[in-house]
Amino acid sequence: MSETAKLELEGKIYELPVVCGSENEKAIDISKLRDMTGYVTLDTGYKNTGATKSDITFLDGELGILRYRGYSIEQLAEKASFIEVAYLLIYGELPTQKEFEEFQYNIKTHTLIHEDMKRFFEAFPSKAHPMGVLSSTISSLATFYPESLNPNRSPAAKNLTILRLLAKLPTLSAWSYKNSIRHKFMYPKNCYNYCENFLHMMFAMPTEDYHVDPIVASALNKLLILHADHEQNCSTSTVRMVGSSQANLYSSVSAGISALWGPLHGGANQEVIEMLEQIHSDGGNVDKWILKAKDKEDPFRLMGFGHRVYKNFDPRANIIKKTCDEVLEKLGINDPLLEIAKKLEKVALEDEYFKSRNLYPNVDFYSGIIYKAIGIPTEMFTVMFALGRLPGWIAQWKEMIENKEPIGRPRQIYIGQVGREYVEINDR
Ligand code: CMC
Repeated sequence: MSETAKLELEGKIYELPVVCGSENEKAIDISKLRDMTGYVTLDTGYKNTGATKSDITFLDGELGILRYRGYSIEQLAEKASFIEVAYLLIYGELPTQKEFEEFQYNIKTHTLIHEDMKRFFEAFPSKAHPMGVLSSTISSLATFYPESLNPNRSPAAKNLTILRLLAKLPTLSAWSYKNSIRHKFMYPKNCYNYCENFLHMMFAMPTEDYHVDPIVASALNKLLILHADHEQNCSTSTVRMVGSSQANLYSSVSAGISALWGPLHGGANQEVIEMLEQIHSDGGNVDKWILKAKDKEDPFRLMGFGHRVYKNFDPRANIIKKTCDEVLEKLGINDPLLEIAKKLEKVALEDEYFKSRNLYPNVDFYSGIIYKAIGIPTEMFTVMFALGRLPGWIAQWKEMIENKEPIGRPRQIYIGQVGREYVEINDR
């Protein structure tokens, strides 16, 4: 007999089914709760709410486990290419050699941007944050490809939209940077793989030959894999929520990009480096900044610390920390910010405030230092996160559409005025 949970309310006992996932994660199924009892649940920030059943990513925040489709993040980051991981997330299995080549080829045939779109870039102010430019240009893709508007049109049409989005995000990301420095856009080069092509579009100049540094391309490959999916986080839930109204993939991902931009989510990587620079220019007194982070009257938070679901360690942060040391050593860079970051980490990990609240370095704590080392400007850090997260967003959107999930529509507990009579303006 399957397990149930018993709920006692107003003298009545209700039995609610218990759902068990493949990693033995348990949930109480409350989908019939309101019909049965008239009650809803209240869970601000969805801290205890499972919004869906998903077979894409498994995460155990207590044990620090992260797996995509069953494969550990450590193995994938060590051995796979980002495009292989994207295929795995979106289609469910690692590609064979033939499938991989086909997938890569299909992406390469869609990397160009419609020439009319170049005019959008001219219209943005030169100081426009690249995340704002990215979410707008991604959303506008739906106007160029109207066949994407119906997400249920046909599997082939849906797949074409997916390939286009994967292909065009690096081009639009790199162009949002080129635009911010008012440099000429560099067109994609199909001799390059996904990461190399992005670096070429970011850093090549029409006047000089550009050589993609394999150390930089490999570091980027690893960083993108580490960011590729993270189950029902804020931006992914946004993508699923927007998509649940049957909005097209471009609009759904554009909304995800906007959600990612916030400093509590993907925007934290930019904030981390700005914080480290601030501490450095302030003389590098780490203890002073730890005190500030602990002071409830002070709005300062230790950016890159803490996580909603990781309460022991963030496995991505462990890999990134190691990669950070390797990349800086290979590139011969001695960054004082890395020293400050390591000091901050050491002090925080020994401090009762951080220990008692399970606050550990997260994925964003060290990623900014690598991005800085490989020449990515600070304002582009969150764009890099978006580039990595795209396969996850696509996979989650596709799963939601194919499982025919209902439109997302939470309830609320209303705490406003109770019904009252309208009073004419002259009588108020
Ligand atoms: N510095 C100082 N105190 C903190 C921090 C921090 N970075 N993070 C949490 N706390 C404290 C918080 O004040 C609270 O204390 P108290 O219990 O005394 O009120 C307690 O720890 C719990 O924090 P919370 O804000 O209730 O936890 P949450 O799960 O709602 O928030 C978080 C998680 C990631 C938004 C938060 O830890 C934070 O703001 N961290 C800094 C921003 C950051 O690095 N974000 C990137 C997350 S990883 C990338 C991604 O996937 O988005």
